[in-house]
Amino acid sequence: MTLGIAEPAAYQHITVEKLTPHIGAEIGGVDLTAPIPEAAMAELRRAFTENGVIFFRDQDLTIDQHLDFGRQWGELFQHPASTPVEGYRELVRIKADETSKGVAGEAWHTDTSCEETPPLGSILRMLEVPPAGGDTLFASMYAAYEALSPEVKQLLDGKTAHHSGTIAYRGFYGDKTKVYPDADHPVVTVHPESGRKLLFVNRFYTTHIHGLPEAESRAILDMLFRHIEQPEFQCRFRWKPHSIAFWDNRCTQHKAIFDYYPQRRFGYRIQVKGTAAPALARLAA
Ligand code: SIN
Repeated sequence: MTLGIAEPAAYQHITVEKLTPHIGAEIGGVDLTAPIPEAAMAELRRAFTENGVIFFRDQDLTIDQHLDFGRQWGELFQHPASTPVEGYRELVRIKADETSKGVAGEAWHTDTSCEETPPLGSILRMLEVPPAGGDTLFASMYAAYEALSPEVKQLLDGKTAHHSGTIAYRGFYGDKTKVYPDADHPVVTVHPESGRKLLFVNRFYTTHIHGLPEAESRAILDMLFRHIEQPEFQCRFRWKPHSIAFWDNRCTQHKAIFDYYPQRRFGYRIQVKGTAAPALARLAA
């Protein structure tokens, strides 16, 4: 008789190679330029939920194929601030060259957490990459939450925080008059599919924790931001032309590393709409 934890079922229709125990897996055996059979799609969904971010190589998609792949995960999301590619309102250019002073996504963040219902995920396809550098870091917010001490978990229990698109985008996109989405979210939420608890505050959007004096809120947020950024919770993706990263925006954060100036880096990103606002997760639950 064998006792103990059951091994997860093997994948039959795709290959899944984990980058780290907590986050990231490279997927093989699937061609995203063609319709994906339902059995492979079911395994992709499972790999996405289990790993937080999934990566594909050598997927030479057209823009329409990129959009079609996104639509298999839900309705596409329109970004509230960045300028879309002409003719494609859900498609955003990710671009840096010899004129760039910075790039989008350099601060650790959850995409568009200033929305009441932030996107489910983002699908970034890179076409041109620098000879070295330009990697993206991803971090598991499950691992970050689970590594907190019982005392800090208790302190955060039931708290909500403010996420400001107006502050984030006015600083980044430079339009001082426009108003962007703002939202309040639980500091600790629960993933709608995995049922796991996770930390849901980030440097780019989260401005303060409700119900605390400003100085205490600032100190706790700064402590959490540093905690979240520990390499133990991360994986790092090295891009090649026609690589794709698809991250679960509900349980990860990411950071684009701008270490390749004045080289070029170019790709396209789409986002899939979320289905529900992040739910409050209580310590006792
Ligand atoms: C982003 O934050 O969506 C951009 C990530 C990247 O360029 O690596």
